[in-house]
Amino acid sequence: MPASKTPRFIQTWQPDAAAERAAACAALAAPHASVAPKFFYDRLGSQLFEAITELDEYYPTRTEASIFAAHGSAIAEAVGSRMTLVDLGAGNCAKAVSLFPLLEPARYVAIDISVEFLREALKEVQREHPQLDVAGLGQDFSAELTLPADTMGDERPVFFYPGSSIGNFTREDALAFLRRVRAQATGGGLLIGVDLVKPKHVLEAAYDDTIGVTAAFNLNALRHLNRLIGSDFDPRQWRHVAFYDDTESRIEMHLEARDAVTVRWPGGQRVFAAGERIHTENSCKHAVEGFSALLEEAGFAAPRHWTDPQGWFGVFWARAD
Ligand code: AVI
Repeated sequence: MPASKTPRFIQTWQPDAAAERAAACAALAAPHASVAPKFFYDRLGSQLFEAITELDEYYPTRTEASIFAAHGSAIAEAVGSRMTLVDLGAGNCAKAVSLFPLLEPARYVAIDISVEFLREALKEVQREHPQLDVAGLGQDFSAELTLPADTMGDERPVFFYPGSSIGNFTREDALAFLRRVRAQATGGGLLIGVDLVKPKHVLEAAYDDTIGVTAAFNLNALRHLNRLIGSDFDPRQWRHVAFYDDTESRIEMHLEARDAVTVRWPGGQRVFAAGERIHTENSCKHAVEGFSALLEEAGFAAPRHWTDPQGWFGVFWARAD
């Protein structure tokens, strides 16, 4: 039996802690205060997000999985063969690995902000697939996407971005991100999960669940911020707010001050009036035609999609010719 290969790990991105702190303080002090959604994802926040995906109300994760289960062969046929599968925001790699039997990649490149998030998962992937070429890349692909040539090989590059995280970008940032992917995808393409427009009550329940997991996820950003910038937020003074804005086709999440409160951090402070809000996240919902047009605007060709019987979620495939 041939010996197992070993995964390679490459970290190309280094966080600039001082710049991150400065940006977080400036966003808090701005006329419309905000906290960037990346502050959801410390260790506890990532566990809370995992819990969200199990909620009855949060349909995206299981709906996306049901589309792959129902249309897997058609998706695999459209995507084609002999590929390097590039998994954007890979985390525990479970979604991509579940597609290996369908897509049969020759190589697997998992990208996340830190290779440390990938290390254990990729060792397991390699154990399960000893002959697969496996690499982990630590990169902030929301800002840059550069793939070391020796991790890519000469197979077709197929990018995989599941989970509808594209919805957390503004339209402008989504387009810039898709163009970055397009620039690296020639000969292959992009397989991406997209949350679609649907009745407001379904959307609002998904982001304001009855047992309060999403509220905890939102409030946890304040704890994370306290650690990062030394602020003195008390999460008990804040309330989770989530609503669907029809004109922007997006869920907005905010934290609302229950009473007037002053928040202090080294070098600054802010007085919040009762009811004043901090904007923490947008989650944009797309129409099929609109998202197909966005893919084409980014330079992809012949977008196709598969959806669930209710038309709540779309898995799109677009070629990079
Ligand atoms: C990660 N992202 C796709 C989630 C979403 O649905 O926008 C984040 C989330 N926010 C609240 N619940 C889930």
